[in-house]
Amino acid sequence: MTDLSTLFPEEQAIPASVKLPANNEQREYLIDGKMLTWQGDMNPVVSPVFVRDGKELKQKTIGSTPLLTSKEAMSALDAAVKAYDQGHGVWPVMTVAERIRHVEIFLGKMKEKRQEVVNLLMWEIGKTQKDSEKEFDRTCDYIVDTINALKELDRRSSNFVQEQGIMGQIRRVPLGVALCMGPYNYPLNETFSTLFPALIMGNTVVFKPAKYGVLLIRPLLEAFRTSFPPGVINVIYGRGRDTVGVLMETGKIDVFAFIGTNKGANELKKAHPKSHRLRAILGLDAKNLAIILPDADLDNAVNECILGSLSFNGQRCTAIKIIFAHKSIQEQFIKKFCEAVAKLKPGMPWDAGVALTPLPEPGKTEYLKGLVDDAVQHGAKVMNEGGGQIMNTFFSPAVLYPVNDKMRIYFEEQFGPVVPIRSYENEEEVIEYVINSNFGQQLSIFGKDSKDIAHLIDAFANQVGRININTQCQRGPDTFPFNGRKDSAEGTLSVTDALRVFSIRSLVATKITDENKKIIGNIIRNRESAFLSTDYIF
Ligand code: G3H
Repeated sequence: MTDLSTLFPEEQAIPASVKLPANNEQREYLIDGKMLTWQGDMNPVVSPVFVRDGKELKQKTIGSTPLLTSKEAMSALDAAVKAYDQGHGVWPVMTVAERIRHVEIFLGKMKEKRQEVVNLLMWEIGKTQKDSEKEFDRTCDYIVDTINALKELDRRSSNFVQEQGIMGQIRRVPLGVALCMGPYNYPLNETFSTLFPALIMGNTVVFKPAKYGVLLIRPLLEAFRTSFPPGVINVIYGRGRDTVGVLMETGKIDVFAFIGTNKGANELKKAHPKSHRLRAILGLDAKNLAIILPDADLDNAVNECILGSLSFNGQRCTAIKIIFAHKSIQEQFIKKFCEAVAKLKPGMPWDAGVALTPLPEPGKTEYLKGLVDDAVQHGAKVMNEGGGQIMNTFFSPAVLYPVNDKMRIYFEEQFGPVVPIRSYENEEEVIEYVINSNFGQQLSIFGKDSKDIAHLIDAFANQVGRININTQCQRGPDTFPFNGRKDSAEGTLSVTDALRVFSIRSLVATKITDENKKIIGNIIRNRESAFLSTDYIF
């Protein structure tokens, strides 16, 4: 059993390179190109990290952020509406090449803030240094890939098409004002993977950072302010119920990009008075499962299921959240799985080789304990030594077996380090589970027999968005479509899909007559229109 009494560090043991500046009180917020200073109530930012002082553990308060009200949220919306100006604003009519230039300027400035953002990721959400760095770099790469995808799209749209005596040019144009909200587990990456496609397609944006992982946007505020025209990007802070609901009620939000719970998404969508005018792109709940077939390579299955279920302590929407192991190998699988769990190093995000870290959500360890207690009450056992041990915000992974449909963990998305395992005899049992689930994001199949795997692929292809073979569930590569069925998502994201989601096609068409050809030819030759043009970016 791990001794958790020394899990949290003493102040002097924290490396200087990861220490945060003393004053992290953020009063600034960005509206209409102006950095404003908030004088009202503040929200303390509490780290999941505690510091040991003798026998006492003290939770670190690392700063505070503005608790804006509906009034400031409305000003942000007004600024975005003004900047869009019914599609006639500077930003929506700007050429694609110019918009790309603004985004490149931002990216250059963002890269200078890597260390600050990475440190805040570690302190605010407890993500390991390696994963925090990966999140930052992956986000920068995503922006570069988005630029390249847009150049490609622009090249393809510069053509004219001729069909049935009609000629036309089809281009993608912005939708209007976008509201972008991300999740706390990827507060930079998942937010920016909607924010930047929205911006680069010519929409104006109101951006509200996630519940946790809020301060880490602060180092980028000035870059936002100086890289984009006023009102194109507005950043607000505060409680969702005070700030976001009122924005939706105005009916002035055209695109709603949200990563969170389906319940939250539903409520916000319903607040919009004209639902047909609202385009929504949602990444929601999931209960991805792994199926371990009798002939699976157990070492690989264990490695992938460990990554799948416990990377970032299981706080990924794509995490494997339940495992079905065939009866013939269940015992061996669980033994190997528990041995692998025991090797995962608990510690602070900056510790070398650390895999398990404290959890940022208040009350999360109690919630997870509730799930484990409920499962135990209904007949499951904690299979790994020390599983479910708690030290303040830290929860040791608990492997539960056997789980059944009486238990909350069987259906509920734990979003944390609890791994429920069930054995099965007949594949139909697994298929039933997937069909009856409210979620439909991904699953993983581990096995060798191609016929067997093919049978399962066909059984699941119309149930989930992605089937992984001998590989954990995951979003990447970012060029692959990322979506889900049922309550798991609305719309599809990928580098190219995101450009489509935040835009609509608009076309100019005419009958092919000499007169019309002359008009179109003049417009193009004399560069009389920004839209109708054969120019493209190299
Ligand atoms: O939380 C959900 C993320 O989109 C998962 O992304 O599979 O790359 O960790 P990931």
